[in-house]
Amino acid sequence: MKIIMLGAPGAGKGTQAKMIAEKYGIAHVSTGDIFRMNIKEGTALGKEAKTYMDQGLLVPDELTVRILLDRVAREDCANGYVLDGFPRTIPQAQVLDQALAEMDDAIDYAINVDVPDENIIGRMTGRRACVTCGATYHIVHIPPKQEGICDACGKELVLRDDDREETVSKRLSVYHEQTQLLIDFYTAKGILRTIDGTEKMQDVFTNIVTILGE
Ligand code: AP5
Ligand code: MG
Ligand code: ZN
Repeated sequence: MKIIMLGAPGAGKGTQAKMIAEKYGIAHVSTGDIFRMNIKEGTALGKEAKTYMDQGLLVPDELTVRILLDRVAREDCANGYVLDGFPRTIPQAQVLDQALAEMDDAIDYAINVDVPDENIIGRMTGRRACVTCGATYHIVHIPPKQEGICDACGKELVLRDDDREETVSKRLSVYHEQTQLLIDFYTAKGILRTIDGTEKMQDVFTNIVTILGE
């Protein structure tokens, strides 16, 4: 099974992608997490990506596509994967499509997690993330068992550098300008499914399972 998560920054793509990956035994691939891991480790890729991410801009397609194709070629993706944060532009979607077509393969579903802009800022400023394992929490809605510590791996939780209010606004406008077009792209392919992302985390997941099957 191969799935794409679409949605604005903070819509809950990462939260749901993690649950999907666990339930269906597929890999969770987040380009944002890959970039953040590289920033943490101080790699050349991380340094380049950071200059864009801190401004709320997209990392250039060429670089992002290379990282993604590399990642999905790894063994843990053999059984399928859920892409979280990729594609984000039409060229990225086209490269992915073509790479899959060459292997006689295709994406099964693009799930659009729909959350209005006015809900986004509160979600982002309350978010705490684990840079080690990618788990995401919210100080009010989805708190960790112990404040500041990841339930999953025990490491420290951080507020992301790009979750400052002015950067979030920029990310939202970049989403509307460059990424929202993908909704039409996948609608035309007949694989887009939209769900209400303002419901409780578990209810959102139940709706996704209804689409993907038990
Ligand atoms: P990325 O890491 O992908 O960030 P994003 O798309 O902005 O999305 P977020 O991770 O902020 O939100 P999310 O939808 O995953 O929400 P979450 O589950 O955490 O990308 C970061 C940057 O990297 C980009 O800006 C860009 O620069 C670069 N980049 C990455 N991919 C790229 C690409 N393909 N091309 C170019 N550049 C790329 O949830 C948010 C919060 O809400 C959390 O606190 C969570 O606990 C809470 N929450 C979740 N669900 C619910 C719910 N149902 N009710 C209440 N709270 C909830
Ligand atoms: Mg995310
Ligand atoms: Zn963790």
